[in-house]
Amino acid sequence: MEFLGGLKRTCYCGSISSEHRGKEVVLMGWVHRRRDHGGLIFVDLRDREGIVQVVFSPETDKAAYEKAKLIKPEYVILIQGSIRKRPGGTENKEIKTGLFEVEVKELRILNEAKTPPFPVSQEKVDVDETTRLQYRYIDLRREKMRSNLMVRHRITNRVREFLNAEGFIDIETPILTKSTPEGARDFLVPSRLNAGKFYALPQSPQLFKQLLMVSGFDRYFQIARCFRDEDLRADRQPEFTQVDIEMSFIEMEDLMEIMERLFVTIFQAFKGFEPKRPFYRLSFEESMQRFGNDKPDMRFGMELAELNDVFHSTGFNVFKQALDKGLVKGVKAAQVFSRKEIEELEQFVKQYQAKGLAWLKLEDNALSSPIEKFLSEKEKKDLIDRFAIKTGETVFIVADVSPKVVNDALSNLRLYLGRKLGLIKDDDYKLLWVTDFPAYEYNDEEKRYESVHHPFTSPRDQDIALIDEQPLRVKSKAYDLVLNGTEVGGGSIRIHNSELQAKVFKLLGISEQSARAKFGFLLDALQYGAPPHGGIAFGLDRLVMILTGSESIRDVIPFPKTQKGTCPLTDAPSEVDDRQLKELFIKKV
Ligand code: AMO
Ligand code: AMP
Repeated sequence: MEFLGGLKRTCYCGSISSEHRGKEVVLMGWVHRRRDHGGLIFVDLRDREGIVQVVFSPETDKAAYEKAKLIKPEYVILIQGSIRKRPGGTENKEIKTGLFEVEVKELRILNEAKTPPFPVSQEKVDVDETTRLQYRYIDLRREKMRSNLMVRHRITNRVREFLNAEGFIDIETPILTKSTPEGARDFLVPSRLNAGKFYALPQSPQLFKQLLMVSGFDRYFQIARCFRDEDLRADRQPEFTQVDIEMSFIEMEDLMEIMERLFVTIFQAFKGFEPKRPFYRLSFEESMQRFGNDKPDMRFGMELAELNDVFHSTGFNVFKQALDKGLVKGVKAAQVFSRKEIEELEQFVKQYQAKGLAWLKLEDNALSSPIEKFLSEKEKKDLIDRFAIKTGETVFIVADVSPKVVNDALSNLRLYLGRKLGLIKDDDYKLLWVTDFPAYEYNDEEKRYESVHHPFTSPRDQDIALIDEQPLRVKSKAYDLVLNGTEVGGGSIRIHNSELQAKVFKLLGISEQSARAKFGFLLDALQYGAPPHGGIAFGLDRLVMILTGSESIRDVIPFPKTQKGTCPLTDAPSEVDDRQLKELFIKKV
């Protein structure tokens, strides 16, 4: 093992360019590849900025050449040499530094490396993700991962610069705190100093940012870590990062305007185009009707259509049973499918609790389908008109007494077919706001009203009068920002008046006592001069995931958790000593 020997690095490997031509450089990095051409040894030397080719020749320096025979992938080395243009025909257009190479005069092996569990130099590694996570420090050397984290850094920086320029103040809020109202399960931390009591990790800085508005900070932001003990999915982590924002003395439109400009600068910088403002807007209701969910992917059409009216007096029992309380709804695909494909699609929708998938295709000007015989001529004609079905096209229909089941099944089928039929372009980005969410929903099991967003979300002014009599008709001043079918942000204008807040708690069946115990501090604060305020939070991980074209949220987080919430690198969560448990007043069961 050798040391630097007083040499200082002159630049990064990946930054070598024409300005270095003929110059002496000192580079330090990792051996990406080594090729021995008998007489010449080539090494691709890598650091965080990229790769450069270095050449060892016995003519230039015999000792360095001999030593170069010893080096292996992932050795850490230092080289000194001069930059020259590569001989004609040997340039490499694939890499940034591909016109140049370093003629090495001195080599120092700074550290050796065991053979890594998977090669760093391959774009796709065929080991399972657990191995990648266990050796995450090696995985992060891979080009795609390195680039993802660099892009993440640059996006975060852009966001900071923008918010800073708009007068937002970065303020930190506690991690050891009390349960916040985002509605997921809390992670709890036992308190040693307070027997039997627990902190909750914040699901978001929601209550604190509202308090900061009451304090008069006017515009707050934080790149905040949030914790939610939920079942994990491809776009969900138990610990994730929000760009958290709150503003005073504003209405919904003011907030949306600033956020749109933030997204325009992000898209300009990272995708080279400006999304058109104002962004498209859809009410929750329209989104459900047309796409079956509240985060529609608008990169393609294939909109859903309700068919209750078409089948209002149908003889087909499957549809008839759904008409009263439920839905009959369909989607059209511009293709016909084989029996086998249709069977697969039927299995696909059954994952979402659909009981079946009816289909009709138009061929030779006639609808053919296993259910064709149950339908009247008028129903068939209306169906063809509703979807403007053309020859060679298929309509899929789901009926159920639960509208949720129908919408879940069809919105997912729409996405599945959109991908399968190649209708979704990867480099297309469609941003939109979804607004006018219902403020409250009824929980049938628990026989009580719940807030859809959180209980501090303000109802629309014109709906306040409905709270007592028709709570399900109350819409809120909440908004979600949706990008390519993913909810990347959500927020609302808050209630700043303690009377209105008390009224909402009453509706939600939160007793005065329980409201005091949970959020007493916020209720108090609302009585000491709270300004009208509102805010939003963006899922930074989700945004970076989409902008880097990553398939999993884990690919944009340096040290993520597995689907089971574990960390194969550190082996967290792990057992603790009995002594520790005792100190925390916790008994083993
Ligand atoms: P919300 O709960 O909608 O709002 O969260 C805001 C955004 O955070 C992202 N997000 C997640 N990302 C990764 N993993 C998760 N488990 C996860 N959960 C949420 C989403 C989401 O849009 N306090 C409010 C915001 C406000 O009202 O200002 C809140 O947290 O992209
Ligand atoms: P069955 O009468 O159960 O054989 O169903 C006849 C056709 O209707 C089959 O193609 C089923 O896939 C379809 N089907 C059954 N239940 C539903 C449903 N709830 N929604 C839509 N199609 C259905």
